[in-house]
Amino acid sequence: MDTRDVFDTSYFPYCNGALFCEGVSLEKLADEYKTPLYVTSRNSLVGQYRAFEQAFSELDHFTCFSVKANFNIHVIKALADEGCGCDVNSGGELYRALQAGVSPEKIIMAGVGKTASDIEYALRTGILMLKAESLSELRLINEIAVRSGLAARVGIRVNPNVTAETHPYITTGDSKEKFGIDETDLGEVFTLLRGMNGVELTAIDMHIGSQIFDRDFYQAAAEKLLDVLAAARSAGFDIRYFDIGGGFPVTYEPQKPAPPVEYFASILVPLLEKTGTTVIFEPGRFIAANSTVLLTRVIYRKHNHTGKEFVIVDAGMTELIRPALYQSHHEIVPLRQHGSTMVADIVGPVCESGDFFARARTIDAVNEGELLAIFSAGAYCSVMSSNYNGRLRPAEVMVDGERATLIRKRDTYEQLVQNEMF
Ligand code: LLP
Repeated sequence: MDTRDVFDTSYFPYCNGALFCEGVSLEKLADEYKTPLYVTSRNSLVGQYRAFEQAFSELDHFTCFSVKANFNIHVIKALADEGCGCDVNSGGELYRALQAGVSPEKIIMAGVGKTASDIEYALRTGILMLKAESLSELRLINEIAVRSGLAARVGIRVNPNVTAETHPYITTGDSKEKFGIDETDLGEVFTLLRGMNGVELTAIDMHIGSQIFDRDFYQAAAEKLLDVLAAARSAGFDIRYFDIGGGFPVTYEPQKPAPPVEYFASILVPLLEKTGTTVIFEPGRFIAANSTVLLTRVIYRKHNHTGKEFVIVDAGMTELIRPALYQSHHEIVPLRQHGSTMVADIVGPVCESGDFFARARTIDAVNEGELLAIFSAGAYCSVMSSNYNGRLRPAEVMVDGERATLIRKRDTYEQLVQNEMF
């Protein structure tokens, strides 16, 4: 399997001119469950997790799927069944991971603004660790742990001040950003921790961003983290975990292929095996992005006097906001292959000019009523959906071979108002 291919024909093949997910016709799924509809290939999801595990097999490590990429409990469960843990960012994501059946000792919690109730919930549940991002948060964790008599295992998330080259909204390891504890504060952190009764420091942690193509950024940040590990150990702390976060890239455009995960492993394994710790990884996008397509139907076509052609579809930025927010590219293909092409803007029904999936894109000349598949829709897509414009969050289906299972029902109008009915 080529883990880099956006159109992975082993999971999304064309059979007699019609697009399938594994052994199931996507046209049939769209007819049965209506559109917009997310369809996930279970074997792609699990295959990516296995590919990741294979690349790091020589290293003592533990992989926690970053649930913020895709928090559907059936997605989490498919990965948990393979032995994968979870990285959560809030009480809500922790609840989802627990509902999916993940055991607490396989869950870690990040987040720059954890509230007292997030912390209490995590400690009561007995998760593997909380990753603290400020001195104030460490004080609060300690206070809650002492008050409730619960053990608090913590990692400190370090801001290594490495600016990974990616979209500015998803770079997190730079001192300009809100994430992590500044390197220069670490002496104070160790002093503070030595005086605390409720907190046990077990991990050093970082996460420098997402969709990072160049391994040099990982190397630079991990080297800084190795210095922090040495300093923590000489300050007397028993550090058992070395968490380097997520950020491993995927291919969204065939013309811009992401390097394979082995490219990162070949530099990280020799560097990290020296730590004498269990290394934790938190991939989200790498595992989920290319496992899923968003199916949408063309409602109208129109053109204007400038020669511009619009394809108006029934999905919008409310279902998949990445092009609007990060100008990200998603491949779009018709479920039935055509001979001819056209240049068009593919846009949604939402009242925003930013509601587009592609601009001036050459695509197959699709007609009104036809179905399209938007690729790479498994990470940061459904999870970022909203009810803006009174839209209903879409249904989700998971395919495993010849079997398709509904894993999320479409919202209903009643749900749109239920929290306002007293
Ligand atoms: N760990 C932490 C602490 C994180 O904040 C993140 C992502 C991850 C792991 C997983 O990163 P990944 O392996 O997926 O790159 N909405 C944006 C991405 C935001 C990423 C936030 N943090 C997008 O659609 O591109």
